[in-house]
Amino acid sequence: MSNHTFILNGKQVSVDCDPSVRVLWVLRDLLGVKGPKYGCGLDVCKACTSFINGKAFHPCSVSVSEIKPTDHITTIEGLAATVGKALHPMQQAWIDYDVAQCGYCQPGQIMTAVALVEQAKAEGHAITDADLDSLRNVCRCGTYFRIREAIMAAAPEPGCPAATGHLRGDTLGLVRLGMTRKQVRHAYTHSSTRGKAYEDFFCLSPDGVRVGYASPALLKTLPADERKRYEGRVVWASTSNTYYEVHGVRRGTTLALARKHLKLTGPFHIGLNEWYLAPNGSSTAVLKVRHGSVEEIGIGDKALTHGHKEQVDFLKSFS
Ligand code: FES
Ligand code: FES
Repeated sequence: MSNHTFILNGKQVSVDCDPSVRVLWVLRDLLGVKGPKYGCGLDVCKACTSFINGKAFHPCSVSVSEIKPTDHITTIEGLAATVGKALHPMQQAWIDYDVAQCGYCQPGQIMTAVALVEQAKAEGHAITDADLDSLRNVCRCGTYFRIREAIMAAAPEPGCPAATGHLRGDTLGLVRLGMTRKQVRHAYTHSSTRGKAYEDFFCLSPDGVRVGYASPALLKTLPADERKRYEGRVVWASTSNTYYEVHGVRRGTTLALARKHLKLTGPFHIGLNEWYLAPNGSSTAVLKVRHGSVEEIGIGDKALTHGHKEQVDFLKSFS
């Protein structure tokens, strides 16, 4: 028997035990910390995944004698901001995506996911399919697909620039009407088309930016000489980020209040949403409204939205 001291979830702990005892049993049986689960005991299933000094490790395969008094061990119970505070974003994503089935493997899955995202962040890249494919935590309930979705949702988008609040004339943040897709993608380093060929979505989140390019359907409504000018160019940019506003109207503004500040035309019912347009200097303000309040606000090309027919053609070309 010997005494072993280390820091567990921010507090110093000491145990008396045989030096060959694996850390997993020290945590579970001697210290009563049951988040790390026992699956294989052989560093294979990863159910016990925890952190040592910020890096993922598998306490089932490490003897307590290898742990130094200055070592910080973190289990799911000590994941940042979980004690008496809001959940860690990864835990919240697990809830949002209803990941767990029996739940046994999930503390290890979450700890591994957090480590993966931290590593990608340190290396300055977004989580890729290859990163997700590298995960080796076993789940006998087969929740793998939901795990992948939750990780993608919780992972911050590297290169997602902070909101500037700049929404004036033909400019919204880093996007300007008339830019090419290449220019926009250069400004925002990561995008998802979400299956829509003529829209980009950047930094997907409630703060995201949507960018619309002239689609073939829209180009078809234009005289031949104008088509060339708009081909492959930004004709619309909008956001649900509350930093951006047009004459005091932003995400969350009620439709009634928006009507007081802007000369709205519409509603145009496209899909499940109502859209409104309003003159806005050198561009047209574009408002997406749901349940009586503004959900997205942005700018559209003025020349493409000057009459009722053009407005309908414009909005429908993105549906
Ligand atoms: S119990 Fe630790 S890897 Fe399986
Ligand atoms: S949720 Fe049951 S083992 Fe993973």
